[in-house]
Amino acid sequence: LQPVEAVLVIFGGTGDLTSRKLIPALHNLKAKDSLPQHFAVIGVGRRQLSDQEFRKNLYPALRQAVGENLRADTWAELQERIFYRRFDFQDERGYRVLREFLEQTDAAYQTGGNRIYYLAVAPEYFGVIVEKLYANGLVRNRSGQGWQRVVIEKPFGRDLATARVLNRKITAVFSEKNTFRIDHYLGKEMIQNIMVLRFANPLFEAVWNNKYVDNVQISATETVGVENRAGYYEQAGALRDMLQNHLLQLLTLTGMEPPVSLTTEAVRDEKVKVLRSLRALAPERVAGDVVRGQYGPGRIEGGQVAAYREEKGISPSSDTETFLALKVEIDNFRWAGVPFYIRTGKRLRAKSTDVIVQFKALPPILYVKEHGELEPNILIIRIQPKEGVYFQFNAKKPGMDPSISPVKMDFCQNCDFENNSPEAYEKLLLDVMRGDPTLFTRWDEVEYSWKFVDQIAQTWGEDQRISSPVPYPAGTWGPAAAGELLARDGRAWWSPG
Ligand code: BG6
Repeated sequence: LQPVEAVLVIFGGTGDLTSRKLIPALHNLKAKDSLPQHFAVIGVGRRQLSDQEFRKNLYPALRQAVGENLRADTWAELQERIFYRRFDFQDERGYRVLREFLEQTDAAYQTGGNRIYYLAVAPEYFGVIVEKLYANGLVRNRSGQGWQRVVIEKPFGRDLATARVLNRKITAVFSEKNTFRIDHYLGKEMIQNIMVLRFANPLFEAVWNNKYVDNVQISATETVGVENRAGYYEQAGALRDMLQNHLLQLLTLTGMEPPVSLTTEAVRDEKVKVLRSLRALAPERVAGDVVRGQYGPGRIEGGQVAAYREEKGISPSSDTETFLALKVEIDNFRWAGVPFYIRTGKRLRAKSTDVIVQFKALPPILYVKEHGELEPNILIIRIQPKEGVYFQFNAKKPGMDPSISPVKMDFCQNCDFENNSPEAYEKLLLDVMRGDPTLFTRWDEVEYSWKFVDQIAQTWGEDQRISSPVPYPAGTWGPAAAGELLARDGRAWWSPG
């Protein structure tokens, strides 16, 4: 599939996502000659800016994101195709003006009526924008030519009920095929690699089950705090910000059965089955198996940082969780009895996302009888910042000494060429232009994820014991209770990185 000519309309053109992620991704695609020849970008937002001012404002974040890979000639060419229109999302007139401008752009850049409407705005606008795009003839353009696709950033609702309402509004206008619900983790190189590692290596797939696997740990730790997103984050917390989307997606890719083919729908079908097999979290299990934390003050990378409740825009009595750890069971034939431990948090000791597969202990015979318990085999799929695969196994120590010690095989994908992997948004934007939704979430994936997450949110809302998060010092691995969650099962978290 080749990317085809299109106009990309970014709602929320003056927002962070546009300058920090989308424009850098477009620059990099252009530098690799991967953008279609006929292409233009229209940023829309509420501020009054000329095209020139808009382009100029994008530059500092672009330079920061792309660093030394910034190419002046590429940016010069790209920015000539970037425009800005002031726009009030509620105002019908704006949509009509935009429609006319799009028609002119089609004529000027031969973009054939193909449009990508990228909704990088606060979620309360998703529904209204989609409705008004349709009402004002922006979805089926007058000539009836071309396709129109919508890309929706998260959060896709704040629970199942609101997600359903939103989905109804979107599907009333755009077909599922033209709806791209973005989860930027799916654009990460090593996350796409999970399926390849599993299904292109008989060695891994043969042991990827409850006969050999003791437990799986999915860990996404961050050092950043809430940054300048207080308004959004206070509503979301780690549960909605990370678990509902990125982490459950990682769980599905790690746990899924081999699909019947590599087509979009076959892959999505298997992912949904994992979500459908998740054991329900009754209130008692939420109390016991889910740890909720919030960062206090502490030191990270040598600097003192403030508590969450002291951050700008955060209520001093906020009960929003910035950390979450939980134990999940997949009740199917492959995984029955194998716990999946998931954790994520902000202001932790290090930034790292990993999938860790710990294999079962040996029976107490032979070397175990002689030497005592040996280190388990461990396979780590490193998603970021290091990308690669690490395998720990046991070997005899060289020499006369009969002892056994763990050794490693370490494949590092991004060690030799720093940042050689394309940024997630490059891949995902290209896929939208190609019309390939494989790395986007289908509605039923969203639906089942919310069903799972809602059980936790509801219990937190109702159960006094867990209605407040446990504080943890910034710069640690989170509340002690997260360690106890595994210690109780005779296990421990593997250090990330
Ligand atoms: C976003 C969350 O989706 O993912 C942020 O809203 C989080 O809170 C970010 O920091 C993490 O993404 P990455 O790519 O840096 O791991």
